[in-house]
Amino acid sequence: MTSAEVANKLPKDFIWGFATASFQIEGSTNVDGRGKSIWDDFSKQPKKTLDGRDGDVATDSYRLWKEDIALLAHYGVKSYRFSLSWSRIIPLGGRNDPVNPKGIAFYSNLIDALLEHGIIPFVTLYHWDLPQTLHDRYGGWLNKDEIVQDYVHYAKVCFQAFGDRVKHWLTVNEPWCVSILGYGRGVFAPGRSSDRERSPEGDSSTEPWIVGHSVILSHAYAVRLYREEFKAAQGGQIGITLNGDWAMPYDDSPQNVEAAQHALDVVIGWFADPIYLGHYPEYMKQMLRERLPEFTPEELKVVKGSSDFYGMNTYTTHLCRAGGDDEFQGFVEYTFIRPDGTQLGTQAHCAWLQDYPEGFRDLLNYIWKRYKLPIYVTENGFAVKDESSKPIEEALQDNDRVNYFKGNTASLKAAVLEDGVDVRAYFPWSFLDNFEWADGYTTRFGVTYVDYETQQRYPKESAKFLVKWFGDNVDAG
Ligand code: NOJ
Repeated sequence: MTSAEVANKLPKDFIWGFATASFQIEGSTNVDGRGKSIWDDFSKQPKKTLDGRDGDVATDSYRLWKEDIALLAHYGVKSYRFSLSWSRIIPLGGRNDPVNPKGIAFYSNLIDALLEHGIIPFVTLYHWDLPQTLHDRYGGWLNKDEIVQDYVHYAKVCFQAFGDRVKHWLTVNEPWCVSILGYGRGVFAPGRSSDRERSPEGDSSTEPWIVGHSVILSHAYAVRLYREEFKAAQGGQIGITLNGDWAMPYDDSPQNVEAAQHALDVVIGWFADPIYLGHYPEYMKQMLRERLPEFTPEELKVVKGSSDFYGMNTYTTHLCRAGGDDEFQGFVEYTFIRPDGTQLGTQAHCAWLQDYPEGFRDLLNYIWKRYKLPIYVTENGFAVKDESSKPIEEALQDNDRVNYFKGNTASLKAAVLEDGVDVRAYFPWSFLDNFEWADGYTTRFGVTYVDYETQQRYPKESAKFLVKWFGDNVDAG
């Protein structure tokens, strides 16, 4: 291979693979001593999921994990991102509650099997499935002092049990979603939106900001523990992963340019600024005043610098206009329609997602310049419109998803090779179609089709595209 060809590839240690999360794929919610998580009961309440279905079976991966690993190996991934179920490991969740050996054994076997196949385990400690008992006992994430201790204890159990083999840890997945969707809009477990109901103008919420604060501290104290007690012996990396889409001004007007920055401040900066820069964004302080909790100087020392990398989950771009009554996105209105009436990109099955790869490149550049740490893209993906109502053969021809990944992998490559952004990993969401939270099973994000009647897996065109793309575009060494 000529040096020009090598120079045109992602470096040989670039990590790529597919991602999932425990509650979305495992099912078997009532076996081997697993305790309930907040999603168990929430998803069973009327109207909480679009199709009225819950996570009791999901993609049955608790039983089918060996087949799933065989499929990952067949795809030739370098890594697999999955999450641990807290309530399988500590069924009641708390620091004085018993650890469940069967929960430990399940993940231990999974990790061993991945390593046997040469697949790097990329492990999320918390992907939204809080043990129900912690919510019932003291309000879960609303109770900072309790949850920080319980979360750190849970993390310690995981570092002890798996850290000899796991070298890539993510503390928490998408804290904005945990806080806003779970405690502000009430569309995710535990379904709290009481503040907003009391205040239709939406300007007096308190719970999401308290929850966000607890999440940041839980993450930061777990990282401190890892660095002090485990890192030297285990030699892994640890960080958080944040959701955040590119925010593009609707037009050149100063108020819309400012609005786009406000959206970035509230969705990304809320977590990234304290963790990487050591303070909440000014705009959030102005917007929330005394409703935004404060860190003590001691806490701030633990929070600042508490992530070894920037974990990025990103899906789309929003055109941003100042206004509206939604403080959860910084009083910014989102649209996909440009001023000239054209659409930004191809519409996905879910309303919040259109395909706009240029935005992905812009976001990578923005994050790199602002936070100056290597970026791991831990999620990126697309749900094809009406995929669930298509016959399987048709669903496997997921052209809109292929186009999405064509665009986004090109943006990834351009960001790394032309713009000099330090991106080290890319995980398409998701390995499998799965339980898409409030959408139930109606929205499919998988590169692998799952027939929920038979639990058969079928690779879609997008899986084939991605496997080939990474084969062609990562230096083989
Ligand atoms: C982000 C979440 O981490 C994941 O659980 C979800 O399925 C995808 N986005 C798609 O909505």
